[in-house]
Amino acid sequence: MLKVGVLVSGGGTNLQAILDKKAAGYLPECEFVSVVASKPGVYALERAANFGIPGTVICKKDYASQDEYDKALVEHFTEKGVGLIVLAGFLTILGKTFMDAFEGRIINVHPALIPSFCGKGFYGLKPHEKALEYGVKVTGATVHFVELEADAGPIILQKAVYIKEDDTAETLQKRVMKEAEWEILPEAIKLFSEDKLKLEGRIVKISD
Ligand code: GRF
Repeated sequence: MLKVGVLVSGGGTNLQAILDKKAAGYLPECEFVSVVASKPGVYALERAANFGIPGTVICKKDYASQDEYDKALVEHFTEKGVGLIVLAGFLTILGKTFMDAFEGRIINVHPALIPSFCGKGFYGLKPHEKALEYGVKVTGATVHFVELEADAGPIILQKAVYIKEDDTAETLQKRVMKEAEWEILPEAIKLFSEDKLKLEGRIVKISD
């Protein structure tokens, strides 16, 4: 059984999608052992509690440095025996200590088709605003392995979403979540748990 830890910062709809799939029997190889929030009071913690999953708050501002913060997270997830870290709307920067401890075992979902509309500052509505501003006809979501550089790690799955003429950043954000993020994040977790993801350089090969 793969023990999974999830990091969240907000509403937690991606967390909800994962836990709903787990409840429906879609992730038999996964056990969700901890949800860690970057600040207190986030709704994602309530969603975790509804599924009986322990929630913890670990705030960067309570630590003297990036390294101390990373160490606190590593210690927490190591104690829980976590083999996969899922960033599900997690907005705090993670440092080298954290990356090294869980190398190749951290995944993130980004609300655009990387390498478009990604990188530093591209969170919340911004990827959608920029996609509309640029006039692309297709956007979507990406699940990728996490490396130190934002949104730059090997791509695991992508799903496209067509843009409508009357889309606003808000309507687009909702559709990208519903049609893409909530589908491909659980799928990537499932593939990882079944040991079906193999890295060849920066290419992720998916086996049957
Ligand atoms: C999602 O759009 C995710 O791709 C991004 O942050 C948002 C989080 O939403 N990284 P939620 O907290 O899962 O509802």
